[in-house]
Amino acid sequence: MVINILTLFPNMFEAFQTESIIARAIKSRLVEINIINIRDFCFDKHKQADDIPFGGGFGMVLKPEPVFRALESCRGKIIYTSPQGDKFSQNLAKELVKEDEITIIAGHYEGIDERIIENRVDYEISIGDYVLTGGEIPAMVISDAIIRLIPNVIKKESYENDSFYNGLLDYPHYTRPAEYNGMKVPEVLISGNHKKIEEWRLRESLKRTYLRRKDLLYKIKLNEEEKKFLEEIKKELK
Ligand SMILES: C[S@@+](CC[C@H](N)C(=O)[O-])C[C@H]1O[C@@H](n2cnc3c(N)ncnc32)[C@H](O)[C@@H]1O
Repeated sequence: MVINILTLFPNMFEAFQTESIIARAIKSRLVEINIINIRDFCFDKHKQADDIPFGGGFGMVLKPEPVFRALESCRGKIIYTSPQGDKFSQNLAKELVKEDEITIIAGHYEGIDERIIENRVDYEISIGDYVLTGGEIPAMVISDAIIRLIPNVIKKESYENDSFYNGLLDYPHYTRPAEYNGMKVPEVLISGNHKKIEEWRLRESLKRTYLRRKDLLYKIKLNEEEKKFLEEIKKELK
């Protein structure tokens, strides 16, 4: 998969590409990330990428010409990171990982000229109801969530159990030692009984989702076992 990122601040992506799972995915050629400097497409003497807003007011706006030019070499769906966009989600990451190539535009200052959005953008994506200084961090958030779903980047079993993947929150995790400063891990996890462990994990997932994110439970279809467990959990919590 190819991910192009248009930005005025390419250095921000250095650590993103050279650490941990993303670095390994790039090295294994499972993903190609092209950081495209919008300023390289400013052809005036001062390489000016932004300008004052028409109508007056505060702040600067990214000019249309360099962004349109930079997009000429990009194929596939185009995403604009924006606090006004659809809220990013695991489902959207699952949808986007099916693409061969995507391009993410990181805005800055007051944003980008609206004509770019109207004419070239397929998705406007927000990473939450707050405003950041630029779209660089959202571009990393979106790319990271997509890259870990590319086959062979991480084990399928790993992301399939993650929160949101199957509509529920993940169950709690513990590692060695089994007891630390008097704090013990749940007995069932060291019992060696895999059926019981699976059942405990499912119950914990359902319980957490019920307690923390009831809204998620309305969006998924539970099977008979899950329904039974959930009813038991509700009774226990009364
Ligand atoms: C200061 S913001 C501009 C905000 C814009 N004037 C507004 O109120 O909608 C600069 C850039 O940061 C990015 N950005 C800020 N917050 C974001 C969020 N919550 N999700 C995605 N992108 C965001 C966008 O690319 C935006 O163009």
